[in-house]
Amino acid sequence: RVSMENGVFFDDFKLSKQDLDNVDRVFIVACGTAYHAGLMGKTLIERMAKIPVEVDIASEFRYRNPLVTEKSLVIIVSQSGETADTLAALRDCNRIGARTLAITNVVGSTISREANDVIYTMAGPEIAVASTKAYTTQVVVMHLLALYFGRIKGTLEETEEKEIVRALLILPDRIEKLLEEKENIEGIARLLAKEEDLFFLGRGMDYALALEGSLKLKEISYIHCEAYAGGELKHGTIALIEPGTKVIGLFTQGDLKDKMVSNMVEVKARGANIIGLGYHGEELDKSVFDYEIRIPQISDIVAPVLAVVALQLLAYYTAKEKGCDIDKPRNLAKSVTVE
Ligand code: M6R
Repeated sequence: RVSMENGVFFDDFKLSKQDLDNVDRVFIVACGTAYHAGLMGKTLIERMAKIPVEVDIASEFRYRNPLVTEKSLVIIVSQSGETADTLAALRDCNRIGARTLAITNVVGSTISREANDVIYTMAGPEIAVASTKAYTTQVVVMHLLALYFGRIKGTLEETEEKEIVRALLILPDRIEKLLEEKENIEGIARLLAKEEDLFFLGRGMDYALALEGSLKLKEISYIHCEAYAGGELKHGTIALIEPGTKVIGLFTQGDLKDKMVSNMVEVKARGANIIGLGYHGEELDKSVFDYEIRIPQISDIVAPVLAVVALQLLAYYTAKEKGCDIDKPRNLAKSVTVE
């Protein structure tokens, strides 16, 4: 679906410039991990296509009378294509006459059949309850859509388009390289497995990434985790930091790095132990960071797709250390087909 020569192309989905000019707002609606992929989508579509995007949890969207109209493009994200709240939201939007687009993994699922258009994530069957490859492919589809819209609307500089396409094409190679970090991540997971509370902090796309890293860890290791935007700390959360509290700080967004470092210094001053996730070859101040997880260099806009693999591994090894049933965590079902 993407090449250096032609940019992005979808076989299964087409929008003309006229269609897109008619769209005044995009809504992205989903649950859980798919919602976190939607948050990435908002940043990407707004940045590349300059269209305002709202992202909603499906169970909230349904009951808040959202301002969806015939000029809205509603993107429904669902691995299974069967999640009850997400499906109900889709049906409401279809009734209103909005254009609906499903991003789903399951061919022939109800959501894929009822949306006006569908883009399959093609992740292959995802058996474990915790979403991993479904998430990474959903975020990549968000990149592709943003590139596609940006090209049609003429809002994306050719140099930026090429840089993002190049980064997407090298992602598989960079993920392979990241796996070399496995043993380090496993060692850090052994420490985390002893904790009762953990915090993930990030800014910009790293905030959306923090939410996903935190969900993955709590879902399979049963450790209480919270994710916060770095700048929100001082509005309450910092009260929870005590000597020895483990905080995972995310550093894939270069333009926000200095601000994030200040946030880390603030928690460090309250005695936190900090695990910093950043690029290989970039300085993380040893007086602030106690542990490091390194990801290979890649363009910041694509980096969260790479970094999430490190966070998925962190969750996996922590759950393994605790002897949890990683594929079938307690109280959860793969597909939530009731409200
Ligand atoms: O099948 P869906 O993508 O619609 O499922 C949505 C959520 O139930 C799902 O992402 C859930 O949050 C995962 N278990 C998280 O790993």
